[in-house]
Amino acid sequence: MQPLTQIDREAWRFVNSVSIITVAVDGVVNAMSAEWCAPVSLKPPLIGVFVGEERFTRGLIERASTFGVSLLAEDQAWIGRACGRHSGGAVDKIGAFQIPTEPAQFIDAPLIAGAAAQFECRVLDRRVYGSHMLIVGEPLRAVGNPAKRAIAYSRGRFYRLGEEVDASYQV
Ligand SMILES: Cc1cc2nc3c(=O)[nH]c(=O)nc-3n(C[C@H](O)[C@H](O)[C@H](O)COP(=O)(O)O)c2cc1C
Repeated sequence: MQPLTQIDREAWRFVNSVSIITVAVDGVVNAMSAEWCAPVSLKPPLIGVFVGEERFTRGLIERASTFGVSLLAEDQAWIGRACGRHSGGAVDKIGAFQIPTEPAQFIDAPLIAGAAAQFECRVLDRRVYGSHMLIVGEPLRAVGNPAKRAIAYSRGRFYRLGEEVDASYQV
């Protein structure tokens, strides 16, 4: 059997959170939406993000030693749309769309203010898998806002978390 060259749209049922990856290199600051951003280890805590080869962020994060991850909250889907639809190569997204940011403590890039959670990461490793580069970061600081709930993204749409489903089973 040959591996697939493409996954059928009907099979694409992944449900992910929405992060904004912030990077600052040589005075250039950019913010990119990422649904492919997830923890990769608990001990030590590690967070990975996959960045496509066509992204402006790709050239930045290949050179950056740190990056920020801000998990968007229910009132911030518009930030996910704006930072996922426009490229930092063409527009200063943070300025043009008035993305609310705040300075980080340990990294050069700002964080998204009002996010459900924020992580300041140091780059530990980079590895290319096909079109995307996996960048693994060690969080230097992680903060959650208990008043905010993270949102989900699936097949091009943003969602708030809904009803919990029954997960009980017979032993
Ligand atoms: C909600 C959402 C999630 C996205 N997730 C990713 C992702 O995980 N990795 C990626 O490379 N691109 C992802 N994209 C696409 C980039 O965010 C988009 O191409 C963006 O314009 C790139 O910005 P940049 O060129 O400034 O880096 C996503 C887009 C949206 C709207």
